[in-house]
Amino acid sequence: MDPQEALNQIASEVRMCTACTLHHSRKNSVPGEGPANARILFIGEGPGVNENEQGRPFVGAAGKLLEGLLEKAGLQRRDVFICNVVKCRPPGNRDPLPDEMEACGKYLDRQIEAIHPEAIVTLGRFSMGKFMPGARISAVHGQAQTVDGRLIVAMFHPAAALHQPALKPALEQDFAGLPRLLKMREKVNDIKETTQSREIRSYPDLVKKEPSTEEDDPKQMTLF
Ligand code: URA
Ligand code: SF4
Repeated sequence: MDPQEALNQIASEVRMCTACTLHHSRKNSVPGEGPANARILFIGEGPGVNENEQGRPFVGAAGKLLEGLLEKAGLQRRDVFICNVVKCRPPGNRDPLPDEMEACGKYLDRQIEAIHPEAIVTLGRFSMGKFMPGARISAVHGQAQTVDGRLIVAMFHPAAALHQPALKPALEQDFAGLPRLLKMREKVNDIKETTQSREIRSYPDLVKKEPSTEEDDPKQMTLF
């Protein structure tokens, strides 16, 4: 199936889905949006109140911040694909539950398969957990890693930076590093094509050198 057709098919299944209890309280499920040939896929946590109303991802305050961060990184919202770990709003914005993420994971997996992005950016600890179980976001944010052959970069959730302005510089810096990371990805692909070298597992020069200020505040970790 052509990638756009696959995404359309997933979206129509998500709109009618009753696979977990979140379908009872949703107004609109939020499959995600963006071009099928996007180079970067952003994965948030789950729809909030505005997203539930409109059926579109990141249309509230966190979305505004996300758009600004993209712009500063030289990216436009219309060029990237944006979706969430769970496609229906957890009531009262509570954390998504393991069985909800499990039930909804099949849609996310199929979206990743269809888009086949060069990089996946996880926003917040729930989408990070899908690829890096047990990782601490304050320790790994902004670093590129390959997981099952895919380039994954964990970042703080934009909503976290709205609640905790101290996180904003780190988020801005991580976004600003994205273009360079994609360039590196191109180089890695070149090397692989010419030498068939082993998979490169990490990109040490993208590792943050400066200590993170948010590291030892346990409250922040429970939020995002
Ligand atoms: N927060 C998310 O994680 N996803 C959205 O779509 C909006 C806010
Ligand atoms: Fe289906 Fe996902 Fe919505 Fe649950 S959150 S009802 S699995 S689309």
